[in-house]
Amino acid sequence: MKYYNTLIFEMSKEGRQGYNLETKPIPQVELPKHLLREKKADLPEVSEFDVVRHYTNVSQKNFGVENGFYPLGSCTMKYNPKINDELATLPGFANIHPLQPDKTVQGLLKIYYDLQAMLSEISGLKAYSLNPFAGAHGELAGLMIIKAYHEKHGDTKRNKIIIPDSAHGTNPASATVCGFETVEIKSNSDGTVNLQALKDVLSDEIAGLMLTNPNTAGVFEKDILEISRLVHEAGGLLYYDGANLNALVGKAKPGDMGFDITHINLHKTFSTPHGGGGPGSGPVGVCEKLVDFLPNPIVRKVQDIYVFDQAKDSIGALGLFYGNASVYIRAYVYILSFGKEHLSDIGPMATLNANYVKDSLKDLFNLPIDGHCLHEFVFDGMKDESTGVKTLDIAKRLLDYGFHAPTIYFPLIFSQSMMIEPTEVESKDTLDAFIAVMRQIVKESIETPELVKTAPHSTIVRRLDEAKAARQPIVKFKDIK
Ligand SMILES: Cc1ncc(COP(=O)(O)O)c(C=O)c1O
Repeated sequence: MKYYNTLIFEMSKEGRQGYNLETKPIPQVELPKHLLREKKADLPEVSEFDVVRHYTNVSQKNFGVENGFYPLGSCTMKYNPKINDELATLPGFANIHPLQPDKTVQGLLKIYYDLQAMLSEISGLKAYSLNPFAGAHGELAGLMIIKAYHEKHGDTKRNKIIIPDSAHGTNPASATVCGFETVEIKSNSDGTVNLQALKDVLSDEIAGLMLTNPNTAGVFEKDILEISRLVHEAGGLLYYDGANLNALVGKAKPGDMGFDITHINLHKTFSTPHGGGGPGSGPVGVCEKLVDFLPNPIVRKVQDIYVFDQAKDSIGALGLFYGNASVYIRAYVYILSFGKEHLSDIGPMATLNANYVKDSLKDLFNLPIDGHCLHEFVFDGMKDESTGVKTLDIAKRLLDYGFHAPTIYFPLIFSQSMMIEPTEVESKDTLDAFIAVMRQIVKESIETPELVKTAPHSTIVRRLDEAKAARQPIVKFKDIK
């Protein structure tokens, strides 16, 4: 096995070739001197078969939803039907050039137009721009809209955004990038907004509130109408972080809850493969009074022609050309394949799966928020603390059993958070297998804690300094010590 872990450069043997060009003389071409290589390229000399094996083995070192269960909370790692990929890569879409005139890409523009309308219908907001490239990018767009709206009304004192302490890190980051000051409010013990804490910070300096509903602990904000009333009464706007829309899609609309702006992570709820940095998409939607501020472009229908248009007081474009067109096509196909009738089956199935896993394990793990959750829930470490086994150890031991780890140490409101989101696509058999492994890990933690504390034992790399790996990635062979 070890042999096949060898890097392709290490397999290199001088003179070994992976190709056979025809022996006919190749015509010589005069290249400018500055383009000529001064010394031989440092490339591995390997056979075609070595290359095939190398890349096949490398591909299997990655873990994705198509390898196994991936309960990464807040990420909605669900199966993305292959038909979506198939249609998104049809030559008629894949070969479009970004500078083609609108009239030659009417089919694609119809998809944009329809998708904008579908997202409006699903979220209860007036209009959408598909422009932002990710959830966080959608947040930035939404916050820029909030800023532009207040500025247009001469309300320039409003430079603060309220964010609950259970929020995803991108919320305060986006607010800061947009030039706002963030005001953090403490949540109730179930992670929901504390109304008194909210009232205490409302003032004429508040530009808006950012909220995820259900929140990052999988709990629905039951006071959302009151929250919305309070924020609006204070002159602020309500931003919906749509990362958790999977729990509510087709069942409840952020617009009906009083939200003025939302982004939707198409790569979560609407089925685009994600992880590893994209591609994703975070379309931003707004209520009627904010339509003029949407980012460009917006696709409109003029008579029977679809055209790229600009919003009147637009915050501008946040990305080039067509955005992540293939992600839009996937989302469009996904929504149509469920249809209006069945889109609302997603949330209840996701909720059932999450509650099943939670209730099957809560005798062994601390459950800080008891009761019914929506699409995900949070454990706060193992009940038996005498073993010294922490959430990180459990996450690493899961890898040995072939499961991806849940999201850990988020939300920050619990010290040993383990956020589990099974999604609606998993069968009871898979959930039972996960439950059995979690129970086995607790047993190991009691009987042989060192085994768990030193996990993983079966992966290519063991415990990494994850922060350093992200900040100083070593991606070149030569740098590997
Ligand atoms: C609650 C929440 N908000 C926002 C985001 C940001 O979305 P993206 O990763 O697409 O930028 C995430 C991502 O995981 C999230 O979970």
